[in-house]
Amino acid sequence: MKVTLKVFRFNGERDYLPHYDTIEMEIDEKKDVVLDVLNRIKWEHDGSFTYRRSCRHGICGSCAIKVNGRSTLACKERMEDMVALFGTELVLEPVSKKRAIKDMVVDKSDFWERYERVKPWLEAEIDEHPTMENIIPPEEAEKLEESDYCIQCGCCYYACPVIEVNENYLGPAAFEKAFRFTADVRDHAKRERLEIVDRLGEGVWDCVKCFECAEACPKHIDPIGKITKLHNEIFKEGVARSNVATRHAVGFKHSIKKHGILDEGHLVAYSEGFGVLKHLPEAFEMWKKGKIVMPWEMPKSKKLDEIKKLVEIASTVRF
Ligand code: SF4
Ligand code: SF4
Ligand code: FES
Repeated sequence: MKVTLKVFRFNGERDYLPHYDTIEMEIDEKKDVVLDVLNRIKWEHDGSFTYRRSCRHGICGSCAIKVNGRSTLACKERMEDMVALFGTELVLEPVSKKRAIKDMVVDKSDFWERYERVKPWLEAEIDEHPTMENIIPPEEAEKLEESDYCIQCGCCYYACPVIEVNENYLGPAAFEKAFRFTADVRDHAKRERLEIVDRLGEGVWDCVKCFECAEACPKHIDPIGKITKLHNEIFKEGVARSNVATRHAVGFKHSIKKHGILDEGHLVAYSEGFGVLKHLPEAFEMWKKGKIVMPWEMPKSKKLDEIKKLVEIASTVRF
């Protein structure tokens, strides 16, 4: 099969702007993975073409790129699947164009700096010269879920829209790792780590729940699922500070339990406290259009008793 590749080219030492090379190539779509195509661009078309790869088995995390805007682990992604998804014209780009150093290679320093802030290691009192391994029991290992499979490829991080607008946000890979160690019974820094991810502006409360990280993860780790678990742990361990985000979570539950439906007006007032005053002009417009009601006019669901029971069953933590 013949494919047409548009390949992102940029040399940070020389170029002001990137350009794209167009390359036509015969591929064996049944056998080739995206990394085979990258290799052939270098070996057969331009020896200066630059990309990262090491293990070729989906475990080192170095070969992440984007194909037609979709985050991909080049050594794992089959060309057959790419062609089925996008057709025979494929655009190969680095995971983050603004961080490109040379062609597919990006500067990952901000990724590592934020990753390190959650203490991505086991904190435990261990004998300097242990005579046996410090093994986690199998039933406890299950609680880590698949979080141990993260290969730090950064696909989730570079797909996250909050990373692009908030330079303090730790990002899905760091949260995934924070979950991995807070869920480990051998770890002694659970509370400290939860305090880090609880911070407004940096932590899990700034996630906008777009699920891009789950879509992007080549190891199917579901970082947004881990973020939700960290939300719960933050409450469970009594780490939650009273702020607009935590009050929003609490107010949401109270509203559903009280009315069986969401009282939008009360939720904003509860979450923001006196800050609600700045929303008065919009609230007035919404009230005029019947989008919010006065507290004394708030209707209740006909199935309120049933909903109350469901809220009780679904509640895993006490606020
Ligand atoms: S769900 Fe949250 S962490 Fe994941 S990509 Fe969206 S904003 Fe980022
Ligand atoms: S969570 Fe998935 S996408 Fe994110 S760094 Fe780990 S393996 Fe890569
Ligand atoms: S080369 Fe190691 S994950 Fe692809």
